[in-house]
Amino acid sequence: MSPRLVPASDDPIGPGATTPITILVNGDPVDGVLGQTLAGVLLASDTLSWRTTPLSGRRRGAFCGIGVCFDCLVVVNGQRDVRACQRRARAGDVVEFHLAPAPPRSDRGE
Ligand code: FES
Repeated sequence: MSPRLVPASDDPIGPGATTPITILVNGDPVDGVLGQTLAGVLLASDTLSWRTTPLSGRRRGAFCGIGVCFDCLVVVNGQRDVRACQRRARAGDVVEFHLAPAPPRSDRGE
């Protein structure tokens, strides 16, 4: 368990009982709790980035966390361009990352 996922018993807010769920991330099972967003499940599993930009190949994950920046896009159950910070995780969701191959250095303007 990641330090980002506070066990319910240690949470000062006292959220009560949680319902565990499991989603598949790039084919690997990842545990979360019902009510978390996909970004929350990914961050709690120590995954900090899950997309690369198409031009520079730079890694992106959750940035704003409120649905504005679109840095957190993932593929969920075959649907592209889902904002992970806005989509609640459901048991059995199949999540794939948007990882574009990095372009040659000459195309990056570096
Ligand atoms: S983190 Fe900005 S839209 Fe999801």
